Amino acid sequence: MNRIIRALGALTLAALPLISTVARADDEDAVAYRKHIMRTLDEQTAALGMILSGAIPEDNLVLHMDAIATTASMALSSFEPNVPGGDAKPEVWSNWEDFAKRMNDFAAKTANMAKVAHDEDPQTAVELAIEALDCKGCHKVYNNKRADDE
Ligand code: HEC
Repeated sequence: MNRIIRALGALTLAALPLISTVARADDEDAVAYRKHIMRTLDEQTAALGMILSGAIPEDNLVLHMDAIATTASMALSSFEPNVPGGDAKPEVWSNWEDFAKRMNDFAAKTANMAKVAHDEDPQTAVELAIEALDCKGCHKVYNNKRADDE
């Protein structure tokens, strides 16, 4: 019995550094994490664009749409820590309601695009892509650096 308790104690102690590392996800981590998510969107959108331009066969078309929809669904929570910095304007947090609405709309439209690709046909989904992938609409308002491009 004592040995079990001691073993449990040792386990708990061993787990502590892990737990505090997770809890200490500091400001730098919060910024790096949301940038990773944004870059994933960028890469997947670029890959999809190559297919739509005819440079690459369309074998992975639907998978790229899935990847974009999945990543879009992660994006809002990556901005939840109130950590101004990176290229994000402070308005992300001072206008959180509007920012969250835009991100939720983006997630809903990309999810719909992917669903149409599966349930109807990829060509119809492609027609939805331009409106669904309105990255610029948000960057114009909330990103210091990318306001003029994508
Ligand atoms: C609702 C708002 C919103 C939407 C939609 C959005 N972004 Fe962003 N994006 C941001 C913000 C805010 C930042 C700045 C993050 C930072 O630097 O902390 C950003 C940053 C980026 C960056 C720079 C990442 C880096 O390494 O600095 C890229 C690339 C990017 N977004 C691509 C995209 C693409 C592609 C889409 C659309 C498919 C998209 N974003 C949709 C808000 C958005």
